[in-house]
Amino acid sequence: MSPLVFIFIISMLINLSHGAMQMPYMTSDPREVSGKSFDYIVVGGGTAGCSLAATLSEKFSVLVIERGGSPFGDPLVEEKKYFGYSLLKTDEYSSVAQSFTSRDGVENYRGRVLGGSSAINGGFYSRASEEFVKKAGWDKDMVQESYKWVESKVVFMPELTQWQSVVQFGFLEAGFYPYNGYNLEHTQGTKIGGSIYDQCGKRHTSADLLGFGRPNHITVLLNATVKSVVFDGNKTRAVGVRFMKSDGSSSKSYKVHVEKRRGEVILAAGALGSPQILLLSGIGPEDHLNDLNIPVVVNLRDVGRRMSDNPAISLLVDRFSQNRTLEPPQVAAIAEGYKYILESEVLPTNITTTRISIAAKIAFPKSRGRLKLNSTNPRENPSVKFNYLGSKEDLEACLEMVLLLQHVARSETVTFYLRLQNREKLLAGDEELTSFCKDNVRTYYHYHGGCVVGSVVDEDYRVSGVRRLRVVDGSTFEESPGTNPMATVLMLGRYQGIKMLKEREAEKEGDESFLSPQGSPQPQP
Ligand SMILES: Cc1cc2nc3c(=O)[nH]c(=O)nc-3n(C[C@H](O)[C@H](O)[C@H](O)COP(=O)(O)OP(=O)(O)OC[C@H]3O[C@@H](n4cnc5c(N)ncnc54)[C@H](O)[C@@H]3O)c2cc1C
Ligand SMILES: *[C@@H]1O[C@H](CO)[C@@H](O)[C@H](O)[C@H]1NC(C)=O
Ligand SMILES: *[C@@H]1O[C@H](CO)[C@@H](O)[C@H](O)[C@H]1NC(C)=O
Ligand SMILES: *[C@@H]1O[C@H](CO)[C@@H](O)[C@H](O)[C@H]1NC(C)=O
Ligand SMILES: *[C@@H]1O[C@H](CO)[C@@H](O)[C@H](O)[C@H]1NC(C)=O
Ligand SMILES: *[C@@H]1O[C@H](CO)[C@@H](O)[C@H](O)[C@H]1NC(C)=O
Repeated sequence: MSPLVFIFIISMLINLSHGAMQMPYMTSDPREVSGKSFDYIVVGGGTAGCSLAATLSEKFSVLVIERGGSPFGDPLVEEKKYFGYSLLKTDEYSSVAQSFTSRDGVENYRGRVLGGSSAINGGFYSRASEEFVKKAGWDKDMVQESYKWVESKVVFMPELTQWQSVVQFGFLEAGFYPYNGYNLEHTQGTKIGGSIYDQCGKRHTSADLLGFGRPNHITVLLNATVKSVVFDGNKTRAVGVRFMKSDGSSSKSYKVHVEKRRGEVILAAGALGSPQILLLSGIGPEDHLNDLNIPVVVNLRDVGRRMSDNPAISLLVDRFSQNRTLEPPQVAAIAEGYKYILESEVLPTNITTTRISIAAKIAFPKSRGRLKLNSTNPRENPSVKFNYLGSKEDLEACLEMVLLLQHVARSETVTFYLRLQNREKLLAGDEELTSFCKDNVRTYYHYHGGCVVGSVVDEDYRVSGVRRLRVVDGSTFEESPGTNPMATVLMLGRYQGIKMLKEREAEKEGDESFLSPQGSPQPQP
């Protein structure tokens, strides 16, 4: 083969692989989409939203509307050496992480960028249990396929850091057996999970998935905040959405529609965003909507109810140390019959110092809370209360969790590695542990609920009482799946997307038999 032909073939191959990774068209100019129509509008380009949009684009035109900007080329999102910085650097309306404080007084965060919370999180990837999948009524094989689709694109096996292997030994010393090595399944014991950071320290968010559908069927509108769903005249069907620019530079609102015959609006704005948009659209409990003078479209009591967050405790084992590399979690212990999840990370306290903590969450808390609108401004956080440790069971679990964490923090490996000298006094006794739990309860950032399946949406994720409107994201979970939810949220977008494609395929066949009086299948042209 002549060198020229060789070079030609190589460059073609490079182009082809680039072709597969081509990103969709992105714009921040509302006028470019205003007044147009699409087969599907996905509201929120987050963890579930991107995975869903990529899948639907295989057959249909999709508009993704995201209130934040692009993650591509943003070092705060992409570079592991800045892990945790996005949480330090927040502002009211534009930072990639938006902070909120629940009415319990606990500080928390939500993603505000294409990629959603997968652009600001710990990147720890771990599937849900078989039991969770069965309870959800999902098809086991399709769930497997959907997880694998995600994993082949944005999930990597981490290279264990020194500290993470120390933690791993700490978990084993505390008795969290068996040791499962690198494992994406939800198995009891100690394991290494997957990561959305690759070996070069680059984060891959759900936004990457947009490049794996048919990118030329996807339009992404960035920096645009959806205010509400638009309904048809008699308010039985979603026909589009109303949105505004996120930067507040004007209060002008724009509309975009879904294709008339079968188009659908799908909310994927997360556990805070999706119930918020439903309420702003007049779908929710009548009394609350009346308080805010929002005309009622559907009186749906459970919108914003059954909100939940896993109570967590974090023991600081090293504060203000310098020159430590920042570390997302790589190992997890699934302890005491799946009741607690333990992990550790190295986070920045400011530009020069870091802190290391070992933290645990209660996997299945009993307490539930509620989300309400604080105002009719869609750019503002809704107000949410999780009622951490509100039930007796959760409080008792918290006491046990603190004791387990102390075991790990006091393990030979951890104390030796950190050269912990003057060990702090151990907490003991119900009274002391109880007040410690109450004073120090925090979040693991796995909050969920608000549009739970079976109450706000049905098994097909359709909103009760209106047509052509669905919710697909973490707000639909009654319980947080697996060790950490991201894997299952990514999977859910893919899974529901495939289901919707299949539904459309079946409808098409239905239409064809309708056209032919005998119901015999029409020959394909
Ligand atoms: C700090 C932190 C660390 C975490 N660590 C981990 C971890 O290591 N592993 C793990 O598995 N999970 C982790 N999680 C949890 C996990 O990231 C989330 O549960 C998951 O990403 C939620 O996905 P979602 O699709 O429901 O919502 P999101 O990914 O938050 O997506 C919602 C999207 O909708 C957009 N949006 C909202 N409202 C509007 C509107 N009105 N108009 C337009 N767009 C809108 C948002 O900007 C966002 O992009 C963490 C979460 C946080 C916050
Ligand atoms: C979109 O918003 C982000 C965050 O506020 C900002 O950095 C970016 O410049 C905006 N993009 C455009 C095109 O307005
Ligand atoms: C709503 O309007 C459509 C036509 O615009 C009509 O077909 C449908 O029957 C109406 N539904 C109700 C409940 O009035
Ligand atoms: C941190 O690293 C810098 C450069 O590598 C070095 O000059 C400094 O002394 C180190 N500080 C500590 C406390 O180790
Ligand atoms: C970072 O925090 C440490 C500990 O609180 C403090 O001593 C140091 O001055 C801070 N550095 C900066 C740059 O703020
Ligand atoms: C709700 O609005 C009030 C008054 O505008 C404000 O003080 C408060 O901080 C808001 N709460 C939330 C959760 O944003």
